[in-house]
Amino acid sequence: MGDNERRYRFDDSYEESVPLSDGQRVHLRLMRPSDKELLRAGFEQLSPDSRYARFMAPKARLTDRELRYLTEVDGVDHFAMGAARRHLMSKDEGVGSARFVRIVGEPDTAEPAVTVIDAYQGKGLGSILLQRLIEAAWERDIRWFRSELLAENKASRAMMESLSPDVQFRATGDGALVATIPVPEPDQTPTAPGFFVGTPVQKLLSAVARATVSVRPRVTRPPEPPG
Ligand SMILES: CC(C)(COP(=O)(O)OP(=O)(O)OC[C@H]1O[C@@H](n2cnc3c(N)ncnc32)[C@H](O)[C@@H]1OP(=O)(O)O)[C@@H](O)C(=O)NCCC(=O)NCCS
Repeated sequence: MGDNERRYRFDDSYEESVPLSDGQRVHLRLMRPSDKELLRAGFEQLSPDSRYARFMAPKARLTDRELRYLTEVDGVDHFAMGAARRHLMSKDEGVGSARFVRIVGEPDTAEPAVTVIDAYQGKGLGSILLQRLIEAAWERDIRWFRSELLAENKASRAMMESLSPDVQFRATGDGALVATIPVPEPDQTPTAPGFFVGTPVQKLLSAVARATVSVRPRVTRPPEPPG
């Protein structure tokens, strides 16, 4: 069966309302081409630090070309979903997104990216998005996530470690880490927000130890802008 005929749980009909740790609910669905304004407005809500952590460079705004790349996705090799707060009297507010881009020439490997606007960070949304991203990746035959991140990006490291005890970090020598994570089978993926392997001290120690382990080559960036 070709990819066009395959039925996915995470397709255009997917919708979900999830609670954050503070009790607020956010609405999850796949990204659509009409989400450009929502994404642009969400990007405006990211602090300079979060933008730097996400794009690994200072970033003032998303260009029209980048917005097209980020919203006009095929759903198989480039998958993207968004999280929004729904307001009765005003427009939806984009509060987070998650995506993966399959690496050219490595059909079982993709580069993931998760972003949560600053006002919503630390409430479990990043972990929820990552967990859904894993399920979507698995059903599209992706078995590895490979991601380059800033070594100081503790939130991102904690999130990855929460997913799999087998995450491997390799230092690149320029302040970045390449993380390689075996994509866990969905039924083995922790579903509860806030599920983390080990205590913070254990996690910190294991991350430090793993930063010296090299298991996969450095990420080859796809030619398009990051998402
Ligand atoms: C990384 C990011 C997506 C995490 O989203 P989030 O909604 O805050 O994540 P969660 O609330 O699910 O928390 C995940 C883990 O990170 C930890 N964490 C969150 N913010 C943190 C921070 N500033 N410093 C250290 N740890 C942090 C949480 O405590 C949690 O681990 P714990 O339960 O062991 O404490 C978010 O911080 C973000 O968008 N950052 C900017 C962009 C980025 O770095 N993206 C990742 C690279 S693509």
